Amino acid sequence: MRLLAPLLLPLALCAPTVPSPSRSLPELSVSQWSAIQSGIFDRISTLTSWSWSKAEEVVHDIEADLGIPTTLHPGSEGDDESKTIWEQLKDDPNSFSRLVKVLEFEGKAYKYLDDKDLSITFFAPNNDALKPPEHHHDHDHDGDHDHDEVEGDAVLAELANSPSLAVLHSTLEREPTLLLKDKDSDSDSDSDDDKEDDDDKKKKRRKEIIRKIAGYILQYHGLTEAYTARELATNSTFPTALKAHDGSYGGLHRRIKVEKSLVPPSLKLNGYAKVLVSDRKASNGYFHTLNHPLLPPPSILDELFLFPDFFSTLTSAVQQVHKSWALDWSYDRNKSKSEGKPHFHGAPLATAFTPSNTAFHLLPPKLKFYLFSPYGRWALTKLLAYHYVPETLLLTEFFYSEHKHHHHGPEHSDFGVAGSDDDPSFHKEFDVHTGLHNATIKVEIDKTKFLPVEGAVKITLKANGQIADAIDIPARNGAWHVLNKVLVPPHHHHGHHDHDEHRAAVHVVSEDCWDSWEEWLPAWADTA
Ligand SMILES: *[C@@H]1O[C@H](CO)[C@@H](O)[C@H](O)[C@H]1NC(C)=O
Ligand SMILES: *[C@@H]1O[C@H](CO)[C@@H](O)[C@H](O)[C@H]1NC(C)=O
Ligand SMILES: *[C@@H]1O[C@H](CO)[C@@H](O)[C@H](O)[C@H]1NC(C)=O
Repeated sequence: MRLLAPLLLPLALCAPTVPSPSRSLPELSVSQWSAIQSGIFDRISTLTSWSWSKAEEVVHDIEADLGIPTTLHPGSEGDDESKTIWEQLKDDPNSFSRLVKVLEFEGKAYKYLDDKDLSITFFAPNNDALKPPEHHHDHDHDGDHDHDEVEGDAVLAELANSPSLAVLHSTLEREPTLLLKDKDSDSDSDSDDDKEDDDDKKKKRRKEIIRKIAGYILQYHGLTEAYTARELATNSTFPTALKAHDGSYGGLHRRIKVEKSLVPPSLKLNGYAKVLVSDRKASNGYFHTLNHPLLPPPSILDELFLFPDFFSTLTSAVQQVHKSWALDWSYDRNKSKSEGKPHFHGAPLATAFTPSNTAFHLLPPKLKFYLFSPYGRWALTKLLAYHYVPETLLLTEFFYSEHKHHHHGPEHSDFGVAGSDDDPSFHKEFDVHTGLHNATIKVEIDKTKFLPVEGAVKITLKANGQIADAIDIPARNGAWHVLNKVLVPPHHHHGHHDHDEHRAAVHVVSEDCWDSWEEWLPAWADTA
């Protein structure tokens, strides 16, 4: 693999530039997630004796497999640690002039980045990351008023659809008036006539909306504690500074997912944003340079739609039985307009175990036919309901539930009880109540340290004994974990009554019970 690397390099240089970060999540694939997550650990653990050079070989193999360079460059020695994150961003216009422009426009986030008394982490997308999106507005700018208005609405619509720092930055480039101080426009409007006043009010309001969106996105780039790359590598998700404000996610801080490889260390956020330069030390924490801006994630259902190659069967099943509301969370424009305040519909909080297309493919052909026929409609409905946990955020390191069955009232916990800084290992198992009445899923979570190196942890999650392929994928209304088998719901079937054999029974059920589905599934579907 090492010999190949120089040959591949010219190809990499010829590759097209990264796709526009607006609209869809770029470069995101479940196979990459699971390859990174399981591949590197499996290969490293098969090494009989640990050596750094061998570890490096493994990393090169994986780089070649994935077609992505995973190497992380540690921060330059030249950082002036007496300066705040904000001062350092401003001092480096070659890398961050675009980000600084957005921060100055937004006007609040930079105060945190400049606060010497805080200790925080910031993910800073560099100038390349904030290149204007590929699609352009065809209009040219002749200063015409109505024209501005149309353009303005298009920008707002675009930002509402896919809030992105790149769109924000190009908006600021196109409309430099947005950068004018509010005060100036205030004093201007005082001396102007009524019509002008109205226009100014509209413009001001629009500017406020854009500024608010900018604030949300920027907060999603910050963590409220200072973490080095190695520290980030020890956990699967981290809470950002952005609190859910739309009634979803239990009002908790929205999370980012961190994936890592160890040697050399490399980090990827939410599956697509790579840390290019890590651990730049400032007087008030660390900042890490990103090659893509982060997007606060869409709903579980919207995310599943982004990966038709993996989840088309699931999404069509969900639509077929009108279960979208259980996994979606979307803005209801009509109702919001008529009620005069924002209204959303769907499930504000849920965790889904999402069977991939492979999972459905592994079902007996006759069962698939049955489930997707009119006769199997109710069975499909119940089966899907068994795959999500309502009103609950279930992550490998964090649990929060508003579900009446789980706790008396909302409660949350970090699973760190047994862990310590030296060894964060833990094993946890518990049952969660699903969307199917009285049916639970047995969840087992293991965090194990496998090398005497900080960040060398492996995290697994099992549902009814099945290992999830990708875990802790953050969504606007919760999280999801990918399964490569469809879970078998609990049902009355001879031989599984004995309490003492409960564990064994669960294993049997999850392994091959679909074989005899005809004996129980239709009857099971008919019971309430
Ligand atoms: C929203 O209202 C518009 C116009 O009143 C109507 O055409 C549209 O069907 C409505 N959409 C929904 C989802 O109700
Ligand atoms: C990281 O995970 C541990 C459990 O291993 C947990 O106690 C801790 O709170 C987590 N840290 C963050 C920032 O979520
Ligand atoms: C649900 O489970 C409880 C306790 O196991 C039982 O008493 C109850 O009858 C069950 N309800 C249904 C509808 O199966």
